[in-house]
Amino acid sequence: RPETTPPKDGDPVTFTLNGETLVAEPGETILQAAQRYGTEIPYLCYHDNLRADGNCRSCVVEVEGERVLAPSCCRAPKEGMNVHSDSERARKSQRMVLELLLADQGPAEYTKHSELTYWAEKLGVAESRFPAEKSAESDSSNPAISVNLDACIQCTRCVRACREEQENDVIGYAFRGNEAEIVFDLGDPMGESTCVSCGECVQVCPTGALMPQSAVGEDESEKDVESVCPYCGVGCLLTYH
Ligand code: FES
Repeated sequence: RPETTPPKDGDPVTFTLNGETLVAEPGETILQAAQRYGTEIPYLCYHDNLRADGNCRSCVVEVEGERVLAPSCCRAPKEGMNVHSDSERARKSQRMVLELLLADQGPAEYTKHSELTYWAEKLGVAESRFPAEKSAESDSSNPAISVNLDACIQCTRCVRACREEQENDVIGYAFRGNEAEIVFDLGDPMGESTCVSCGECVQVCPTGALMPQSAVGEDESEKDVESVCPYCGVGCLLTYH
C-alpha cells in the first residue's frame, strides 16, 4: 500500500537521484519524477493511469538514512532527500524481485517480450534461480482475450483498470497466499462472466497473462487489441495499439 501520498497542492521538492538533482512537481512520486527526467527505475504494478498499489516491489530504491528500501512508485520525495535506484543494495533487491516474479510466472512463455522480460533483461536477470511451481490451465472462453494465469504476477493492474478506468468491476482478486489469483465475477470463465471485452485489462497487463487471442506467443510490444467500445452501447469496433 502507498506509504506516502504526495500532496498535490504543495511546493516543488528538490531531491537527488543517483547524484543528479531533480525537482519533483507537487503530487509526484520518486518514480514519476525519475521518469520525467529520463532515469529508468523498474516498475511492474505501477501504471500511469492507475492508482499506485505498491505491491510488486520491483521499483525499490535506497533512501539515505533509512533502513528499509522504499517503493518509488508510491513514495513522495522530501526536500533534500538523497535517493539511489542504482546502488548495489537497490539493484540487488530489484533483481531479486524480478527473479521471484519470473519464477511466479511459471515455465510457460506466452509472449516473446513483455514488461517483465524487458526489465529482467535490462537488469541482467537471465533466468530465475527459484523453481517455477504454478501450472494453471489457460482460459480461451472469451473470443477476444486469452487468459493465462501461469503468466500472472498478481500485480492487480487489470483489477484496477477494470474498476477504475472502465468501472466494470468484473476482475477481482481471490483466495490467499499461494492460492491467490485473479478471478472474473465469482470465478467464472472469462467468456461467461460479465466482461464486455473492452480490452483495458489487456492493455495494462505487464506479462501476457491477459492478451489478445490472436497474439499468444507473439511480441507483446506489438500487440493490437480488437474490441467493442463499451461506452454507449452502439457497438463500434475499436483497435487498441
Ligand atoms: Fe512500485 Fe510495484 S511498481 S511496487
